Amino acid sequence: MRATLAANYDLSPSMEAAEATRDIYSTMDRVVPLADWARHAPYVLAIQRMKKERNAVILAHNYMTPDIYHGVADVVGDSLQLAIEATKVDADVIVQCGVHFMAETSKILNPSKTVLMPDMEAGCSLAESITPAGIEEMRARYPGAPVVSYVNTTAEVKAASDICCTSANAARIVAALDSDTVIMTPDQYLAQNVASQVPNKRIVWWAGSCIVHEQFTAQDIKDFRNFQPDTMIIAHPECPPDVVAEADFSGSTSGIIDYVQDKRPSKAMLLTECSMASNIADELPEVEFVGPCNMCPYMKMITLEKVLWSLHTMTTPIEVDPAIAARARIAVERMINLSQKVAA
Ligand code: 13P
Ligand code: SF4
Repeated sequence: MRATLAANYDLSPSMEAAEATRDIYSTMDRVVPLADWARHAPYVLAIQRMKKERNAVILAHNYMTPDIYHGVADVVGDSLQLAIEATKVDADVIVQCGVHFMAETSKILNPSKTVLMPDMEAGCSLAESITPAGIEEMRARYPGAPVVSYVNTTAEVKAASDICCTSANAARIVAALDSDTVIMTPDQYLAQNVASQVPNKRIVWWAGSCIVHEQFTAQDIKDFRNFQPDTMIIAHPECPPDVVAEADFSGSTSGIIDYVQDKRPSKAMLLTECSMASNIADELPEVEFVGPCNMCPYMKMITLEKVLWSLHTMTTPIEVDPAIAARARIAVERMINLSQKVAA
């Protein structure tokens, strides 16, 4: 990959390229050293050129590193926002900077587009934890109960579910369903957090978890609060419920960004993936981010080099079996429609 790219683009570290992209660098100079930017800038310039040549847009999740998030993305957001944006893309090509299920969701929602995944190994511990057989097992255990599957699932699992949800709308989706018992898959902690927000329903769940968020413990949060009581603590709902209970706020990745932008605390601990704090550090100079740096190994597989390779070679296009895609689309579109209806 490297040799082919070097033969086609000028990718050597360059202060001239860093200078030419000074405006972009100013969005991340608090967290990215100039010497690193001199390495990134030639890739950013090459990717910008290739996006025009291929008529491509880059959809990037909030967990991307700042060089991707601020450097080359056309749209950034949480899973719900990226899914909605995927339906609106006019360009011929979508490069998905995120994990595999996100690219699959874009393809399901906008099948005529070429959706490229810069690294097909970028999976998700939640998506890997359940198969359609698991959904059938839950249906057999709780007959008649609707299945709400997190978007962090494969197309096959979405196709076997009644409706999807994301961390931004899970409680609203579950509350709006006309059933006393609701099956939530595959994230046990998201399900337990929703159960406390929707106490009038019986929520049953699959035992999956996120390898990043399950690492946070309530004891660590309590200890830190005793040590620095003025820190605002914000947790993603994939964290265990006793962790969420210790936090000042819980929300989707974009919900977390909006909350910090609004509250502007002097110190903030984000109980989520490490790049989240890096991506908003420059626009919030008054906020000191004191959280631990838990990284998602899958999200971190996406690099500028792989994004450029993706555009150069047009790899790897996501394919979803049309019959599965049609059923998965119903579950995702139901979520988008219901989410917009209950938000109104
Ligand atoms: P969001 O939908 O909140 O962006 O979360 C996606 C994800 O994978 C978090 O781990
Ligand atoms: Fe999956 Fe967790 Fe990584 Fe999100 S952070 S993509 S839920 S493994």
